[in-house]
Amino acid sequence: MPHRPSTDAKGAPGGRGRGAGAPYLSGKQIRYYRPRGSADVRALIDGGFQAFNAGRLSEACHIFADKMLAPENDTTIGLTVAGALTPAGLGGCVIELMDRGLVDFMISTGANLYHDLHYALNFSLHRGSPFLDDVELYEHGIIRIYDVLFAATVLLETDQYIRDFLERAGFEGPMSTSEFHYRLGQDLLQRTPDCAEYSVVAKAAQCGVPIYTSSPGDSSIGMNIAYHELMNGSTFMIDPNRDVNEVCAIILAGRQNGCVILGGGSPKNFYLQGQPTLWEVYGIPKGGNDYFIQLTTDQVVWGGLSGATPSEAVSWGKVNPGVLPDTVVAYCDSTIAFPLFCEYAVGSQHNRRARRELVHKREALVADLLRQAREAKGKPIESEPAEIDRHR
Ligand SMILES: NC(=O)c1ccc[n+]([C@@H]2O[C@H](COP(=O)([O-])OP(=O)(O)OC[C@H]3O[C@@H](n4cnc5c(N)ncnc54)[C@H](O)[C@@H]3O)[C@@H](O)[C@H]2O)c1
Repeated sequence: MPHRPSTDAKGAPGGRGRGAGAPYLSGKQIRYYRPRGSADVRALIDGGFQAFNAGRLSEACHIFADKMLAPENDTTIGLTVAGALTPAGLGGCVIELMDRGLVDFMISTGANLYHDLHYALNFSLHRGSPFLDDVELYEHGIIRIYDVLFAATVLLETDQYIRDFLERAGFEGPMSTSEFHYRLGQDLLQRTPDCAEYSVVAKAAQCGVPIYTSSPGDSSIGMNIAYHELMNGSTFMIDPNRDVNEVCAIILAGRQNGCVILGGGSPKNFYLQGQPTLWEVYGIPKGGNDYFIQLTTDQVVWGGLSGATPSEAVSWGKVNPGVLPDTVVAYCDSTIAFPLFCEYAVGSQHNRRARRELVHKREALVADLLRQAREAKGKPIESEPAEIDRHR
């Protein structure tokens, strides 16, 4: 039998009442760390990270800073995020990359976006310990993500904000996640204009960076969208087909394409499947990804996609077979490796690019995908879509 404390709401954390969990939240508040381009970190990565996974991380930094960011390579860069990175305070790294135009689009688990909303709404998450008594935490209304602790009320109030937003926005019918996150980010910016400095979702809306979620039902954002349909009779729903086509269209339009994959999970494949969608489904041979960087704890031996190597991806047409030297997997905890990677990028020569603002170009890019796919399938469109300004 699962343990149930005496509480009004069976199954809800916090049986001892609101505020009872305060002693567990005495650890320092977790804040988003912003990389500043530390010369010492660059020296460490260049001089000290020489072999094994330190060597791979150094390689990843060089592929990103020297090749993917080089203006002559004009690389469209996708960032994929899995693992609980925003709860751990890594959203600041993503914000810095977006601000500098070093990431053009992002694919994330819904959880990372949901937990980013806590920061946007000024709720606090705290440093704690992974060795606490979870039954006690449950009874005191404390949520634990490994060693990150916060009050269950943070969940409830964040959920309430999402539901209020859905009601205010009055969306009906299908929508891509990129559009949904863009509108959500705009709403956050309207409430608190400076929250772009501490929210990935708000920063992305400000910088025109589309954010996709590969499994939209699998997060508290998806849970509240489901509520909105059931309880309010809304017809609003997320349309994953639009996401698939938009990501595919962005990749098609890229002169070169490269990715930074944090963890693995479904965001990894959602990015990588763009190339097979082009050649296998639409009949447009794009030639595979040009750069591939993954920071992960996953391993190849289990046969899962999260641990699959860039070399295996070649066989799927996901990675260009001629570019394997420009691919690397660093087997590291991304909560350690990603801030170092970002410090390196921010301190590098090409540390700022013009933003592509792809969120505003999605329609034209998908129209171009449709035109090329029709041609490839021998069903050209009678009237041509307007000439598009590729990515810039
Ligand atoms: N409240 C919420 O909304 C909520 C909370 C948690 C999870 N979820 C959902 O559950 C699903 C799973 O999420 P997930 O983040 O656990 O992803 P996941 O477990 O599917 O994938 C994470 C992958 O990245 C790797 N990884 C994880 N942490 C890492 C680290 N620190 N360094 C390097 N690699 C690391 C793992 O090995 C794993 O393969 C998602 O769809 C998410 O939206 C929702």
